[in-house]
Amino acid sequence: MMMSTSIYHKDPTRRWFFSCCFLSTIAMLSAVFFFGSQCVLSDYKEKFLAWGLVDAMQYTISKNCETHCRPDGTEALPKGIVSKTSDLLMQPLWGPRNKKNSKSSTNLLAIAVGIKQKESVNKIVKKFLSSDFVVMLFHYDGRVNEWRDLEWSGRAIHVSAMNQTKWWYAKRFLHPDIVSEYAFLFLWDEDLGIENFNVGRYLSIIRKEGLEISQPALDPENSEVHHDLTARDNRTEVHRKINKLIGGGRRCDQNSTDPPCTGFVEMMAPVFSRASWRCVWHMIQNDLVHAWGLDFQLGYCAQGDRTKNIGIVDSEYIVHYGLPTLGGLAPNKTNAEAPDQAAKTISLPSSEQPASTSSSPSDPRTEVRKLSFVELEIFKNRWKKAVREDNCWDPYQKTPQQSKN
Ligand SMILES: *[C@@H]1O[C@H](CO)[C@@H](O)[C@H](O)[C@H]1NC(C)=O
Ligand SMILES: *[C@@H]1O[C@H](CO)[C@@H](O)[C@H](O)[C@H]1NC(C)=O
Ligand SMILES: *[C@@H]1O[C@H](CO)[C@@H](O)[C@H](O)[C@H]1NC(C)=O
Ligand SMILES: *[C@@H]1O[C@H](CO)[C@@H](O)[C@H](O)[C@H]1NC(C)=O
Repeated sequence: MMMSTSIYHKDPTRRWFFSCCFLSTIAMLSAVFFFGSQCVLSDYKEKFLAWGLVDAMQYTISKNCETHCRPDGTEALPKGIVSKTSDLLMQPLWGPRNKKNSKSSTNLLAIAVGIKQKESVNKIVKKFLSSDFVVMLFHYDGRVNEWRDLEWSGRAIHVSAMNQTKWWYAKRFLHPDIVSEYAFLFLWDEDLGIENFNVGRYLSIIRKEGLEISQPALDPENSEVHHDLTARDNRTEVHRKINKLIGGGRRCDQNSTDPPCTGFVEMMAPVFSRASWRCVWHMIQNDLVHAWGLDFQLGYCAQGDRTKNIGIVDSEYIVHYGLPTLGGLAPNKTNAEAPDQAAKTISLPSSEQPASTSSSPSDPRTEVRKLSFVELEIFKNRWKKAVREDNCWDPYQKTPQQSKN
């Protein structure tokens, strides 16, 4: 009954939710009961129907019910044949089927790659494959064949589309129904050093800590660190907050509840639980390929309190090289001329691409940056508009079952 959770909101300033949603909640609940019981009834009817024992009128009712119990588009199919989800398991052309590893849940590594980072990607992929990950490579430079010599190449799934960003790929090839088999999705950039990163230990830490969204901390000595929150604290296993002055004269302390003081990860190495990814996927805008601004809103997908369910793992940490990758770009915060506060603290993803729309393409790097800021503005405006128009939106509405993997 997740619709009912909105009435339990404690914040008095949000009381209006009560009046706004209460009636519709009742209406929806009764609708659920109505269709719910009708569905049970219909199961019986279907059995009789198959034997030609019900009349035309009952048939109509049963048809009516099906449309409410079944996924869109499957109304014409018998329920038992409907296969709602998929996975990325490859199958042999003959012989026994490949079976999922049932004893441990499988996880997915998806990484945007170019041939220039072959060595670093090779190291990353080897580590993850040895931990039973399914690996998916997004080739933004189209040079797929040059990976064939690597021993694991045949076991990875290769997707190739020229000059596309990680977020473009993720929106198109990581639909939640396709990746619902995987407990955790690692959606990583290619320019990461993983000497001090153990996959198994990382997984057990985020499980133990209940982190729905996380990232390994960045080694501050050798990394491009854009946000202090993501820098490694060598005294802890996991941290969720920082207590210090950050850019823009802002102070983060124990009472902070907003990103980038807490409830925040950067976009170069995020790790999502199945439930959080289902939410994040929907937040990724189909046309905004640089996904700027997304990091600041991830908290809404944390399946509860973002200050608790989002964290940085310090004991398993990485180096972010910030190498020029897609589009020959390197993050460079010194020349970031942020138009506003949000942009000031936003990271420049290393998986970037030149804007192809410009009539006089100057420096691709400048063009990408320009488009990224434009996209950021569009995203922020869409967000504001969506919040304004959705009277029943309750950002804290969560059902506990959603967070379990
Ligand atoms: C991709 O980007 C590269 C480097 O900017 C450019 O030379 C190439 O023409 C682009 N390819 C396509 C298909 O857009
Ligand atoms: C922890 O980090 C601090 C600051 O970066 C450094 O001075 C200190 O030596 C480190 N301690 C260990 C045990 O690595
Ligand atoms: C945090 O909040 C508590 C309780 O409101 C207050 O006593 C404390 O001074 C605050 N700490 C900071 C650093 O603002
Ligand atoms: C960052 O940009 C500035 C100004 O454009 C430049 O002087 C500097 O060398 C750049 N730093 C890096 C690491 O690319």
